[in-house]
Amino acid sequence: MPFSFPPTIKTQRLLLRPWRVEDAPRMKAAIDANLDHLRAWMPWALNEPSPLEDIATRIAMFAEEFEAGSNGVYAIFSRDGTEVIGGTGLHPRIESGLEIGYWIARAHTRNGYATEAARALTESALTMPDVAAVQIRCDPRNIASAGVPAKLGYRHIKTFNDPDILVDGSPRATMVWQISAHDQHPHLRPAPPRRARRR
Ligand SMILES: CC(C)(COP(=O)(O)OP(=O)(O)OC[C@H]1O[C@@H](n2cnc3c(N)ncnc32)[C@H](O)[C@@H]1OP(=O)(O)O)[C@@H](O)C(=O)NCCC(=O)NCCS
Repeated sequence: MPFSFPPTIKTQRLLLRPWRVEDAPRMKAAIDANLDHLRAWMPWALNEPSPLEDIATRIAMFAEEFEAGSNGVYAIFSRDGTEVIGGTGLHPRIESGLEIGYWIARAHTRNGYATEAARALTESALTMPDVAAVQIRCDPRNIASAGVPAKLGYRHIKTFNDPDILVDGSPRATMVWQISAHDQHPHLRPAPPRRARRR
């Protein structure tokens, strides 16, 4: 079932919207300036840097997926849209819900931006029909990433060995953090009551 991803999300300090093809040069600049920072934890970054045309093609694919409701990839900009802060997304990689991924350009880390973006995406996701839970997954060694769900009141439900994901050539563990539509948590706005599903 396709998801209705919000086309724009504004938070106190950030603007989240899908990347546009004309953003390709600044997306590339942000990735290329953060290669080591990203490669440490994000397998896709091992294939960077990419030529500008490839980035534009990737953005066009993200836009198609966004439109189709099959994958919600967002850019994170400063609220006025002038500066790339990072990237995030709502990904239907889990059963009965969505997974949030994120990266923040090194120069902007430790300002609470990942938490602010993930909070907004969590609140949006929990209002969507067919989203019973939202997860954030990270390597247990990625203290910075695990700090985000911890701050938002996600529960650490398990850690499993994921030998297929190789970042530095070694098997990697994955920590699973989850929040469900039934969870009441002071760090999130309460989700509106869920409508009963039609039979
Ligand atoms: C992980 C990442 C997105 C965090 O972004 P951020 O905007 O700096 O995170 P926040 O400022 O919202 O931090 C939230 C909490 O996480 C923890 N945290 C964040 N960075 C940390 C660090 N370097 N060391 C220890 N704890 C850290 C803290 O508890 C922090 O809250 P606090 O600042 O109030 O103490 C960023 O470091 C990044 O892009 N890393 C590389 C890519 C990556 O790992 N992505 C996630 C893959 S699962």
